Amino acid sequence: MKIISTENYQEMSIKAGLLLTEKIRSNPAITLGLATGSTPKGIYQFLIKDHQDNHTTYNQVKSVNLDEYIGLAPSNPNSYRYFMQHNLFEHLDIQGSNTYLPNGTVSDLEAECNRYEKLIEGIGGVDLQLLGIGQNGHIGFNEPGTSFNSRTHIITLAENTRLANSRFFNSIDEVPKQAITMGIATILKSTEIFLLASGEAKAEALARLINDGMSEDFPASALKLHENVTIIADKDALKYI
Ligand code: GLP
Repeated sequence: MKIISTENYQEMSIKAGLLLTEKIRSNPAITLGLATGSTPKGIYQFLIKDHQDNHTTYNQVKSVNLDEYIGLAPSNPNSYRYFMQHNLFEHLDIQGSNTYLPNGTVSDLEAECNRYEKLIEGIGGVDLQLLGIGQNGHIGFNEPGTSFNSRTHIITLAENTRLANSRFFNSIDEVPKQAITMGIATILKSTEIFLLASGEAKAEALARLINDGMSEDFPASALKLHENVTIIADKDALKYI
């Protein structure tokens, strides 16, 4: 795994944004795997500004998101569809029909997982996947204990994940208990992966990822099986390295 260390969150977002826009310009029909959470917000702001200033176009770009809460409609401000629309898609010239997320409101959720997995395969897989990391090592919503062979599946969220994400909700009771997430094997099929991390809260997770071996108790460690992973993190997140 290659590590790019930056001074702070802003520099992390700029470095990752520059690398990303380079990839998009050299492959205008790229398929991006996208993430939600606080970490990629600065990168999305970079992409929007670059689109306005330098006219990088997304009219052939496809995107597939990692995950979605079960039970939250796209109109719910806490759904990941809503997050993506407002933090990225509506500010770019990407075609709405080329932006994909799992649908957490359908009645047959198992069928939705299969549909999403096939959809990713059908569009030729992900060229570049962006990942954040949970404090417990989750990637997407693959919580500790998830099989490294997993494909898109339903996950019951860990209590510490619900607690961490409750900052976006009125109370922890409103945080969904389940989500649909790309599996670990789904993520590992992408051609290239950028893992982003910022702040001391992620320092222990990054130390475990970089220094320790592989274990299904720590989902991000599966990334050691992938040949093209770049960690882009600020010095607070890398403080134990
Ligand atoms: C969330 C998301 C992950 C994200 C992680 C970290 O629960 N499902 O995809 O990477 O937790 O979030 P943040 O970037 O807000 O720290």
